[in-house]
Amino acid sequence: MCGIVGFTGRQNAAPILLEGLKKLEYRGYDSAGIAVTNEGKISLVKTSGKIVNLCEKIDNGAALPGFSGIGHTRWATHGVPNDINAHPHLSNDGKFAIVHNGIIENYIVLREELLSKGYTFESDTDTEVIVHLIEMYYKGNLKEAVMKTSARLEGSYALGVICSECPDTLYAMKQASPLIIGVGVGENFFASDVTALINYTKNVIYLEDGEFAELRPDDVTVYDCRGRKIDKEITRVVWDVEAAEKGGYEHFMLKEIMEQPRALKATIEPRIKDGHVVFEDFELTAEELKNTDRIVITACGSAYYAGCAGKYVIEELCRIPVSTELASELRYSNPIISDRTILIAISQSGETADTIAAMKECKARGAKVIAIVNVVGSTVAKLADHVIYTWAGPEIAVATTKGYTTQLAVLYMLATYMAERTGTLSSEKCRELVQDICHIPGDIQRAIDLNADTRELGRKYSKCTSMFFIGRNIDYCVCLEGALKMKEISYLRAEAYAAGELKHGPIALIGDGQLVIAAACYEELFDKTMSNIKEVKARGAEVLGIALEGNRKIFTEADDVMFVPKTNPLFNTAAAVVPLQLLSYYVAKENGCDIDKPKNLAKSVTVE
Ligand code: F6R
Repeated sequence: MCGIVGFTGRQNAAPILLEGLKKLEYRGYDSAGIAVTNEGKISLVKTSGKIVNLCEKIDNGAALPGFSGIGHTRWATHGVPNDINAHPHLSNDGKFAIVHNGIIENYIVLREELLSKGYTFESDTDTEVIVHLIEMYYKGNLKEAVMKTSARLEGSYALGVICSECPDTLYAMKQASPLIIGVGVGENFFASDVTALINYTKNVIYLEDGEFAELRPDDVTVYDCRGRKIDKEITRVVWDVEAAEKGGYEHFMLKEIMEQPRALKATIEPRIKDGHVVFEDFELTAEELKNTDRIVITACGSAYYAGCAGKYVIEELCRIPVSTELASELRYSNPIISDRTILIAISQSGETADTIAAMKECKARGAKVIAIVNVVGSTVAKLADHVIYTWAGPEIAVATTKGYTTQLAVLYMLATYMAERTGTLSSEKCRELVQDICHIPGDIQRAIDLNADTRELGRKYSKCTSMFFIGRNIDYCVCLEGALKMKEISYLRAEAYAAGELKHGPIALIGDGQLVIAAACYEELFDKTMSNIKEVKARGAEVLGIALEGNRKIFTEADDVMFVPKTNPLFNTAAAVVPLQLLSYYVAKENGCDIDKPKNLAKSVTVE
């Protein structure tokens, strides 16, 4: 989704803003722009398309001198992606420019009011009302104008403001959209996330909703919504620059697939003490778990699919009913939630609007909320009663890989932790599970090694126009995630079905040459899945099987096979998804797709 950056200091702002915007490209965008203050004026350049277009227009920033400014990558919501709708937006008097991430829900009413007062609009965006409001309220005091403006806005915003009359000052405001402040030496920054800042500073301030900051080269002041100064803690970011760069790989996605063993190790190892799972910041007592009549898992996209696998594991180990709900549905479903419900919210970015709304809804109904999240200080982390971080490091490719597998690992650990506390499993059994969890990083490495020649399969299947993924039980969850990866980055029609559902409709679509990818790793149901494979083969399908290393039976039906190591069957999703990640990567590469930044997609979906 949109990304914003701001800089004030003693060097030219434009090149720094462009660098920051490039780091935010992964969030998804369709136009970009920057504005700087210089010699009492605001200069502004924006363009549709990629940031390289913007760099060309302003000679990589050299043609736009000025020591402070703001920048934006836009992911269109209101108004088509073109030069005019791109941000920054300028006030009618040319004194103010703003960048905005979020949606102003009452913009139509505000627009009418401003039109009736003689303000003119250039764009179709909801954002433009903000800059005209600032102009309207400005009586020589920018802080006051910014506060009056924010009091009029309904919806979500991370906002950056510059004014030609105070050229070294930036304002940054946050309401339900991500925004952080970077504190440097003689220079300060704001940005949608830390990846845009870590080249310059690792000292950050996380703003809360309703807070706003005034940035000058030598100081940062944070205010609450009533304009009272507040003391904020400066946090040191643990991610390093290298982690947010490609490190020799052609794409971030491939790098992140290969990083999974390390990421899983970082997620698992610190939580294993003397053969038990221990979470650093929270404790669920046996009493609390006894009082829990239901666990609800909520998330979107891949995080939801991790939750689907988590349901199988938690129910199997803890015998507590679990339902996994899409956050976009849960939030509007009048959910049956009480103080006896544990809500597990899963999010890599921690900023997904639907997940946040579902959490708020369930919290208001009394649920205890545990968040599984990757980004420290994110909204999901702040809203939760307890947080379990995934420690995957920055995930830059839009299609999640290590984010997803680390979420699975946390769910496995949580399930084992709860099973030990409720006493549904003996402590000996729990120790065995813990050992199996500790093997996951190695299992994933083995899955990577076993599928090193996926490039060939990618080539072979790149011309398919549609793919079916079938599997049973947790293999079905692997299929859901595998199909999502395939459609996201290679734009092929890829649908996942529970294998037993084929006969209830989808089999009508199976015919000569239709590719069916069949996950058959869950040994208990292997024969059942084989029957389904036979059914599709009998109708002319070509079958790519995913099976456990050493399984020869699969060759009796499958045309090709990708192997994964034998693990605890309950925890197999993490390794079994790896060949599908690699396959979608190589299919997309073969088809020349923009793998790290697929069309229409955004990394962090901060609007509904
Ligand atoms: C798919 C993908 C998305 C996200 C979803 C939730 O590869 O990345 O489906 O999983 O948008 O995002 P988070 O986890 O940030 O809440």
